[in-house]
Amino acid sequence: MAARKPLIAGNWKMYGRRANLGELEVLWRSISPVAAHVDALICPPAPYVQNAAWSARETGILIGAQDCGTESEDAARTGDVSAAMLADVGARFVIVGHSERRALFGETDAVVRRKAQAAQRAGLTAIVCVGETRLERDSGQAGDVVVRQVRDSIPDDAESLVIAYEPVWAIGGDRTPTPAEIDEIHHIIRGTLAQRFASGASDIRILYGGSVGPKNAAEVFAVGGVDGALVGRASLKAADFAAIILAHPAAK
Ligand code: 13P
Repeated sequence: MAARKPLIAGNWKMYGRRANLGELEVLWRSISPVAAHVDALICPPAPYVQNAAWSARETGILIGAQDCGTESEDAARTGDVSAAMLADVGARFVIVGHSERRALFGETDAVVRRKAQAAQRAGLTAIVCVGETRLERDSGQAGDVVVRQVRDSIPDDAESLVIAYEPVWAIGGDRTPTPAEIDEIHHIIRGTLAQRFASGASDIRILYGGSVGPKNAAEVFAVGGVDGALVGRASLKAADFAAIILAHPAAK
């Protein structure tokens, strides 16, 4: 199986101001010795992507965005930001289908898929998020929900694709699935990808997200099928995000 370089991504969500970009320099000071072994990505809010890319230009920190439009070409879509524009200002990745966008903005699997395709066409790597709600887990449907989301949200191209498994109930609180629960879903996702893509599926990184912080990062990274993390709150402070990155076995 291909060796997958771990990816540890920070999703700043709708937090922070331009001044927070100063965290990038602090982060780089801590993680530069291990940057050859772990990909570190920060996804600030859209207005700051260009400044972030500029601030990170002499570091190994990758910059991405949190969402993009569904259209590949320039179009009359007031308020929307295209993947091509994000690439133009220095983004390399874009998160699509985060559960907050699915739940609060009504994004369907079909919409997420179009966004992922637009991202790839623009030369970005799409991070497609999937994950079950508490109700779905409690009723034994977690695996089925995630399989359906993966099947219907991912683009046709296995290149430049990352999957993030983020159980909705584990986001923004202090509850996380057990390592065995994470392992189970990651295996299910890997199997779904292998069925879908004749080749290349083994290169796709599958991240875990939901209340990852300095205290539990090592436990999460010890799960066999986990290729990194998608981190919310703990990515806003460079010290916390650096501690998560340094907790990865590849950084030792
Ligand atoms: P928290 O790490 O704050 O739980 O958020 C996870 C998340 O939604 C990352 O995309």
